[in-house]
Amino acid sequence: MSHYLLAIDQGTTSSRAIIFSREGKAVSSAQYDFEQHYPNDGWVEHDPEDIWQTCLQSCRDALSAGQLDAGDIASIGITNQRETTVIWNRKTGKAIHRAIVWQDRRTAAYCQTIKTRLINEGRGQLIQERTGLLPDAYFSASKINWILSNVEGARAAAEAGELAFGTVDSFLLWRLTNGQRHCTDASNASRTMLFNIHTQQWDPELLALFDIPASLLPEVLDSAADFGNSDRKWLGHAIPIGGIAGDQQAAAFGQACFSAGMTKSTYGTGCFLLMNTGEKVLQSRHNLLSTVAYRLEGKVSYAMEGSIFMAGATMQWLRDKMHFFADSADSEAMAAQAQAGLSLMFVPAFTGLGAPWWDPDARGAIYGLTRDTGIPDIVTAAMMSVCYQTKDLQKAMESDGLRPTTFRVDGGMAANNFVVQKLADLLGCEVDRPQITETTALGAAYLAGLQCGFYSTLDDISRLWQLERSFTPAQNKDWRDRHYARWLDAVQRTRSDHS
Ligand code: G3P
Repeated sequence: MSHYLLAIDQGTTSSRAIIFSREGKAVSSAQYDFEQHYPNDGWVEHDPEDIWQTCLQSCRDALSAGQLDAGDIASIGITNQRETTVIWNRKTGKAIHRAIVWQDRRTAAYCQTIKTRLINEGRGQLIQERTGLLPDAYFSASKINWILSNVEGARAAAEAGELAFGTVDSFLLWRLTNGQRHCTDASNASRTMLFNIHTQQWDPELLALFDIPASLLPEVLDSAADFGNSDRKWLGHAIPIGGIAGDQQAAAFGQACFSAGMTKSTYGTGCFLLMNTGEKVLQSRHNLLSTVAYRLEGKVSYAMEGSIFMAGATMQWLRDKMHFFADSADSEAMAAQAQAGLSLMFVPAFTGLGAPWWDPDARGAIYGLTRDTGIPDIVTAAMMSVCYQTKDLQKAMESDGLRPTTFRVDGGMAANNFVVQKLADLLGCEVDRPQITETTALGAAYLAGLQCGFYSTLDDISRLWQLERSFTPAQNKDWRDRHYARWLDAVQRTRSDHS
């Protein structure tokens, strides 16, 4: 009898595997970082072989750390960095180019051309209406186009049906099933800018717009579905793969955000705030994204999303490039050493600004440096930038008439009490932290558990969510407004068109 679920969480900087019990408790885990490639300004790539090998090794190590074997696993759930684009040869299974990562800005000018063209044709809203997304280099469509246009022979091979495209979930599924399955789930498909989120079909007009042959695309299934079995050669037994979701949607699932208004904010490399909007697609008028939260038994639940590119990655930069501290966990204590009434503003636009500004050409800046500015001040301002950026998203949601019913945080930086308290202060609402902050992997495990019958309803999963600590705002509206106005001023100065 198999009692456990194996979640593969393939993130932007590391791959990990976590084994969960039916009760949603982590039993064992393993994690490997892998190399980031920056071949040009604003370009970010991953080697798909690194992605695959680190995932496989993590699964093997998590099994041995838990003294389990593949026969103990009832189902596998996969969750992944979204939008990152892999194109591989169907015969050899080898990628024809390194994966182009979601953060990569190389197609920004091309996206601008597409946008202008659509506006001139009187179809300026086409992309948002069909996909819920805004035309931006962040999503997969322009990255696919780039690979087909820049890798020799790729377009002809694509047209001959020899190539396959996938987001990372799809690539891992192909590898795990030894080329038997070329599928993705609706939440990942909704991040490609090629998927009509209303009809739940690939959109022929968008495929034509980006010049992408339909033969490249994976089949789109529910988020809990029969995705095939892992080949026995990888883990010793064939294991059913029962769940797939993009990492931010998986985190919302792991946070049990199942009814409209329930909101989570995940602090990983970036920060992604998702509010469940139920069965309705709400179209933002303030530059947020509409996206598929999950699809179960053909029924879609949608979410409104705000995406910020730099959260934990800012702390990583302070640690690895500036050497301001040795361990990210040290940053929390540095807040106590910062000057009282700190007036420094850190705008982490290292790879441009995401929601709600969508400014790919902005670059990072620190304002208000004085002769006594020290390392703790800069580190504290960087932590505050994560809170201010979340505030931007809250403001945009409010302008769209949306208010969270509950606000839950997770991800690495959610362990930082200073950050979560300041978040509550700035948002002016209660912020809840669950006992398990690894909600991304947990969400993938829950999807796999739904498919294999560990859980029968979403209520079974909601009951497993447990509060660790609630953070209550300790500042008043006047404080919030004053601080936020200074942040907005700093962002304005950082924008590429600020003149
Ligand atoms: O949209 C990008 C997102 O999925 C990346 O998430 O956790 O790897 O920063 P993460």
